[in-house]
Amino acid sequence: MLVILAACQDDDKSNNPTAVSDQEVISKYLNIDLANLFNYSNPTLPNYYNVAVDNTPSSNAITDMGATLGRVLFYDKNLSVNNTIACASCHQQNLGFTDNATLSSGFENGLTGAHSMRLGNIRYYAGDSMFWDKRAVSVEDQSTRPIQDATEMGFDSNHGGFTALTDKMSGLNYYPILFKRTFSDSIITEERVQLALAQFLRSMVSVNSKFDEGFTAAFNPNAPGGGIGGPFNNFTAEENQGKGLFLQPIAQGGAGCAGCHQPPTFSLDPASKSNGLTMGETTIFKSPSLKNIGVSGPYMHDGSITDLPGVIEHYNTGVMRGPALDPRLNPAGMPQRLNLTQAQKDALVAFLQTLTDTDLNTDPKFSDPFI
Ligand code: HEC
Ligand code: HEC
Repeated sequence: MLVILAACQDDDKSNNPTAVSDQEVISKYLNIDLANLFNYSNPTLPNYYNVAVDNTPSSNAITDMGATLGRVLFYDKNLSVNNTIACASCHQQNLGFTDNATLSSGFENGLTGAHSMRLGNIRYYAGDSMFWDKRAVSVEDQSTRPIQDATEMGFDSNHGGFTALTDKMSGLNYYPILFKRTFSDSIITEERVQLALAQFLRSMVSVNSKFDEGFTAAFNPNAPGGGIGGPFNNFTAEENQGKGLFLQPIAQGGAGCAGCHQPPTFSLDPASKSNGLTMGETTIFKSPSLKNIGVSGPYMHDGSITDLPGVIEHYNTGVMRGPALDPRLNPAGMPQRLNLTQAQKDALVAFLQTLTDTDLNTDPKFSDPFI
């Protein structure tokens, strides 16, 4: 009798003393405390992030519940046809949410057509479009494409499409509860999956690298660029030299990187064209934010560059002409040759390493919630 009385005080059971509470169901599968969700909706941002353009639409503002549902979806292998692959298989937290394969393996070990992309600071890409070739118009549009991809997660038309997945999800006890708590009812639709995944993806902000520590201390709203150009006290001389080279335009003795990979978020300038990896290239590619670049090789859309010295050498001597080449890399109609010294190349690599954000790569709120 005592047990039943205690149970009656639980909200979820008040109408029916024999019913199991939402939390009891969730706890069978997930390390999620419904009464005490992580803070996704209101991250603490440094004051120099006030210049950042945020691609979050007003129709899909991040809520803690929505992003929590997104986290479950992101880590759930049930979203692949044969329960082998989740988003997180190719977007691993400890690697800045990419993987270290040149091309990634899908549900039947087929290979993707491109290298996986880091996901930190995705909300600050002002161009909105997603994928290396920008073919998805928004984070929402992108988010369910891997699920329906014939190579990646397999819910294509041959496997019943998205309807087969929503039917499968309705039978997994945790989803009706999570959808009901996020939306007005427990109905599972592709649009709702997109909204929740996009909230989780946009909550992955990167603000805790050595670079951010240095900029927070040096920040002065009245100085040009907020004081980004001055030496950072927490940097070595080499890292400060690399920062200078990264920031300065070529005409001023720099390497001109920041014109495209824009601090403080290191998202790509949406007007950027391609960087001359292939002779005669016609496709315009984007780059994900360079945050966590140091832990996430190989590099570029085709994974063709193995390490950071290789990336610097590309910009130093390897840029090739083609219709999609950005004019900034093709001054006076000739692909750029930077003529960097070895010390300058090393300094640029050292600076790129300061963009590693161990907090984003270990924060439990972005980790696998499954038991
Ligand atoms: C089999 C590996 C694999 C799986 C599974 C996978 N991805 Fe990806 N992801 C990739 C690859 C490869 C790319 C780049 C593809 C391209 O541009 O053609 C990518 C790109 C992206 C991008 C674009 C990032 C940007 O800055 O433009 C987002 C967002 C993303 N994935 C999210 C997800 C989500 C959400 C899921 C799960 C629903 C998922 N991915 C599942 C490999 C994978
Ligand atoms: C004209 C714009 C532009 C300039 C200038 C530029 N980049 Fe890039 N960068 C890009 C584009 C576009 C890509 C994606 C290319 C691709 O994969 O096809 C890229 C990719 C990269 C990548 C790989 C990203 C990844 O996720 O694999 C790194 C690292 C990088 N650039 C560093 C630099 C450095 C360092 C400099 C200065 C020496 C620089 N970039 C100058 C446009 C630019």
